[in-house]
Amino acid sequence: MSAACLSSLSRCGVLSFRSPAGQVAVRYAQTAAAPVAESRIKKFQIYRWDPDTPGDKPRMQTYDIDLNTCGPMILDALIKIKNEMDPTLTFRRSCREGICGSCAMNINGGNTLACLNKIDTNTSKPSKIYPLPHMYVVKDLVPDMSNFYAQYKSIEPYLKKKDEANEGKEQYLQTVEDREKLDGLYECILCACCSTSCPSYWWNGDKYLGPAVLMQAYRWMIDSRDEFTEERLAKLQDPFSLYRCHTIMNCTKTCPKGLNPGKAIAEIKKMMATYKEKKVVAV
Ligand code: SF4
Ligand code: SF4
Ligand code: FES
Repeated sequence: MSAACLSSLSRCGVLSFRSPAGQVAVRYAQTAAAPVAESRIKKFQIYRWDPDTPGDKPRMQTYDIDLNTCGPMILDALIKIKNEMDPTLTFRRSCREGICGSCAMNINGGNTLACLNKIDTNTSKPSKIYPLPHMYVVKDLVPDMSNFYAQYKSIEPYLKKKDEANEGKEQYLQTVEDREKLDGLYECILCACCSTSCPSYWWNGDKYLGPAVLMQAYRWMIDSRDEFTEERLAKLQDPFSLYRCHTIMNCTKTCPKGLNPGKAIAEIKKMMATYKEKKVVAV
């Protein structure tokens, strides 16, 4: 339609123009221009360190983000920085819904998951983001999880039977009540937020297993289908693996899944006392 054809542009959303057939009126959708939102610039101070840059020292780098153009979670801000401002920023993430455990980091002083942690919309306060504390750093926000995973492997986190003849041939059933005992334990996503908030783990992380791994040890000890409870307890019988827990409960306070590893450790200690008594009687 040429401009010459237009005879009027009504304010009520009706366009009329002259055609060979005569005057034609057409309704149209009028879109009002959205008011421009005032920008809400928030500072994100992020730990940076690149081992591949010779002489690079750990430092904090500040990024300004307009919260109007960013999703609500800390992980949204990190992804925005990486995609739009600085592709060298390095962090782990996968599921973005609190399931994979890979985006665990220290945000504003607490260990948590970046994908479940809402950005504080108070723009006068910067958000400070570090890797999980007291871990070796691979790069930026990526901690070295090798020791944590080796410790997890050491507790043999799988069902063990004395007689393996039936393995793979039938289901190992358990009662509804026995299954319920695993609630609050099986949901752990091994993010390591708890272990890296534990002062005992900071100082003895090579020998003390830490709350995450101990909770999983407990999960298998109380599984009615598992037949290695005593052996699992025996493996923790040394001054460090279990007994470095001093019930400070940082672990339970910080767990982003709302689990209670501190309680699980207390339960292992109770089981250990009974197990030791049984041993003494047997001698
Ligand atoms: S207990 Fe919680 S904080 Fe610890 S590893 Fe599991 S999910 Fe993460
Ligand atoms: S309760 Fe035990 S495992 Fe949890 S933070 Fe305290 S010392 Fe660490
Ligand atoms: S990205 Fe998977 S837990 Fe955050």
